[in-house]
Amino acid sequence: MTALNAARELFADLYGHEAEGIWSAPGRVNLIGEHTDYNEGYVLPFAIQQRTYAAASLRDDDRIRVASTFADEPVEVSLSDLDTLFPSAGDLRVPEWSAYALGVAWALLLAAPDARPTGVDIAIASDVPVGAGLSSSAAIEGSVASALNELWGLDLDPVTLAQVGRRAENEAVGAPTGIMDQMASMLGQADAATFLDCRTLETRSVPTGFTGEGLEVLVIDTQVTHAHSTGGYRERRASCERGAELLGIRSLRDADVSDLLRAAELMDDVTFRRVRHILTENQRVLDTVSALDEQGPRAIGELLVASHASMRDDFEISVPELDLAVDTALAQGAIGARMTGGGFGGAAIALIEHEAVESVSDAVVRAFADAGFGAPHVFTVHPAEGPRRDA
Ligand code: GLA
Repeated sequence: MTALNAARELFADLYGHEAEGIWSAPGRVNLIGEHTDYNEGYVLPFAIQQRTYAAASLRDDDRIRVASTFADEPVEVSLSDLDTLFPSAGDLRVPEWSAYALGVAWALLLAAPDARPTGVDIAIASDVPVGAGLSSSAAIEGSVASALNELWGLDLDPVTLAQVGRRAENEAVGAPTGIMDQMASMLGQADAATFLDCRTLETRSVPTGFTGEGLEVLVIDTQVTHAHSTGGYRERRASCERGAELLGIRSLRDADVSDLLRAAELMDDVTFRRVRHILTENQRVLDTVSALDEQGPRAIGELLVASHASMRDDFEISVPELDLAVDTALAQGAIGARMTGGGFGGAAIALIEHEAVESVSDAVVRAFADAGFGAPHVFTVHPAEGPRRDA
């Protein structure tokens, strides 16, 4: 069954009538620009064809019910509970999966203080793989934000809805992430990536030219799970903030590769390497945009490879499975490959010829088996459109 129909059926089964509408939003792959978003730098993600669907109807009381195909039971609260539930300050009082949707409702009402909302029933289903680093959470946030924006007549623009999603994730769920995923999902366009300046939130649509050039983006989901709300992600953020402080700037966005010599003198080796990743990665994003504009997608391979090396050696967020995925794809003739997303697991992407999809996929699966790793999940993605109303 498609995720669209799964959301429709779950809604009808649980709530006893057809949903008023169904809205969806995509997951994303980041082409390049990792961990630069919370440093107010540059990113170049694209929305993918895998989407999350939210079937929803208004109620005439103030109850909010959320259900999902990946949870046993719906969660029910009232609109007036939202302000007592969030910000959660680390002690989440609803199941985590439901905090994405309920957090969006909470953050939307903060963004539209004059709204006079009524309760709502929501049922969610998704074909964005969870835990793969493809922003299944931003897809939930985007689908629910789009549904409530229309049902509550809020008329908020896509950038505001992205900010609402990020606020839900940061303050309701408690994951200290940047704005990239929500912007990528909200602003997705077929055949184009979104170049985003995370300081100004200015965006430019950059045609990828993948299809025209006969290229595919292969996702290699290592199935190694990661959790942003804990450990490594938070630690990397803290290192970047320390680096900025030692350089005497507000954020690492205010430095560039010409500051590296000075940075080396000011900080310990680990902090320096974290900073070096961010400064070189920002430059690689700018170079990738120019390469796509001027030469097309075959010219970006080396930048993707350099980005992976920087994440592996300087930022230290790769894992052996991701390195093997990247190395195997490159050995099979991939134009470029790198891990994508927050790291510590999740997925790698490889830019390959259309004809090579099968051979590269097979080689990766074989390499994982030979290394004694669990089987990866390998599939292609293409740049796809942002949120829409499906029914
Ligand atoms: C996760 C976060 C993003 C971003 C990436 C790393 O996907 O949600 O905000 O920081 O990691 O680039």
